[in-house]
Amino acid sequence: LVLVIDFGGQYNQLIARRVRECGVYCQIVPYDYTLDKIKAKNPKGIILTGGPASVYAQDTPQAVKGLFDINVPILGICYGHQIIANELGGVVEHADSGEYGKTSIKLEKKAILFNGINNGDTCWMSHRDYVAKAPENFKIIATTKAAPVAAMADDKRKIYGVQFHPEVEHTPFGKKVLQNFLFDICKVTGNWSMASFVESKVKQIKETVGSKKVLCALSGGVDSSVAAVITHKAVGKQLTCIFVDHGLLRKNEGDQVEKIFKKQFDMNFIRVNAQNRFLTKLEGVSDPEKKRKIIGEEFIRVFEEEANKLGKMDFLIQGTIYPDVVESGTKTSATIKSHHNVGGLPKDIQFKLIEPLRELFKDEVRAVGEKLGIPHDLVWRQPFPGPGLAIRVLGEVTEKKLAVTREADAIFREEIANAGLSEKIWQYFACLPNIKSVGVMGDSRTYCHTIALRAVTSSDAMTSEWAKIPYEVLDKVANRIVNEVPGVNRVVYDITSKPPATIEWE
Ligand code: XMP
Repeated sequence: LVLVIDFGGQYNQLIARRVRECGVYCQIVPYDYTLDKIKAKNPKGIILTGGPASVYAQDTPQAVKGLFDINVPILGICYGHQIIANELGGVVEHADSGEYGKTSIKLEKKAILFNGINNGDTCWMSHRDYVAKAPENFKIIATTKAAPVAAMADDKRKIYGVQFHPEVEHTPFGKKVLQNFLFDICKVTGNWSMASFVESKVKQIKETVGSKKVLCALSGGVDSSVAAVITHKAVGKQLTCIFVDHGLLRKNEGDQVEKIFKKQFDMNFIRVNAQNRFLTKLEGVSDPEKKRKIIGEEFIRVFEEEANKLGKMDFLIQGTIYPDVVESGTKTSATIKSHHNVGGLPKDIQFKLIEPLRELFKDEVRAVGEKLGIPHDLVWRQPFPGPGLAIRVLGEVTEKKLAVTREADAIFREEIANAGLSEKIWQYFACLPNIKSVGVMGDSRTYCHTIALRAVTSSDAMTSEWAKIPYEVLDKVANRIVNEVPGVNRVVYDITSKPPATIEWE
């Protein structure tokens, strides 16, 4: 195990990911994680991350006392590098102008950390503070134009610091630096894989749950599905999944989910058909935020009722993944949309939480899903919002509008798959803007719905670009929709990015 100590930098999740890509298991812990806890984990190496603060300012995150005395190799990155300097007697100063972006590195001395790296290679910097003087016993192993101590090493204590960011792609040799640290300095073996992840999680869940009972709110999305299957592997029928079909799912989705979990995995699976309840609650409501709140609340009510019927359950499984953990950590960001996830469950039901995927990124979750034998289509399912089609039918939601949207969406998805694009586009769907326009079909005037197609590329849904789908594909989709879906006479393609638009229309 390698511990990544988090000082609030933007790329911390990337560091963890790169370490795992080297085949080494790692965990991120907050900067105030106590020394006893760190020692109890028995890490083979420690990485101190970047962060936005200045080490010399007051009340800024510092390393816990004694961290540099426990005989575990340490690599500090950016702010982590400055912490090492500041803590061990070097000097950190504020520069008049910062060093941002690509710069070339000058290797000053032979160093294990830089084995296989060439003088003049490009690294990526993002800092204003800099280490002006390395602590005693440290040798300066690299410099850049603006950083007199771009990297330093104390081989005896195995403590290293780099000012640049080895974890980002703009430092092409970055992975090599991490490999040198992990394999040649920490001496770990790179034999960790998704299979070992599954094995150790299953063991851990077994130990935690014992003979008790576990509940899972299954949405059919990738994360909750993978969390459910890994738990099922650990505790079998002690797990019960509740799947609330709110009638706002895509075409045939409810049946597919039921088939996979009930039949293929033979799970205790309860499908609650609550379509009418949700539609009744949504009657006459057209405000997007109101719709989201109603669905979120009703979801909780239905779930609660079903859970109560089962008697006492001890644990609740959630498919929280690492980016969720990070995003929910932002205290200052504005609410653009109230996200409803099956995660927003009743506060008054007392469960202990189990979140088996908390440390993983989406593509890692997918790799785990494939390892567990979950069908490829489910594992590669695109993100689908908790409130479902209710926020893709603009304005008031009715069964009729849902049906139109569902059919158009199914055609769009089918053609994207036929064109071999389904794993290249982040999200693609049809929505109903709730406007009617005039058309002509078979010599007669029509006055029907417009369907808007939305397809975006993105890496994390925080920003996105509209997908440049070939015209022929769009042409085919539009043709099929007006011909096959009654009540639609016009199809438009949304060509806005996020920001300023959002991915969903509501
Ligand atoms: P927006 O529309 O804000 O969406 O650009 C960003 C991503 O989040 C998804 N989304 C949701 N997911 N519950 C969810 O679980 C929600 O309420 C919700 N609203 C939007 C959206 O599909 C996109 O992937």
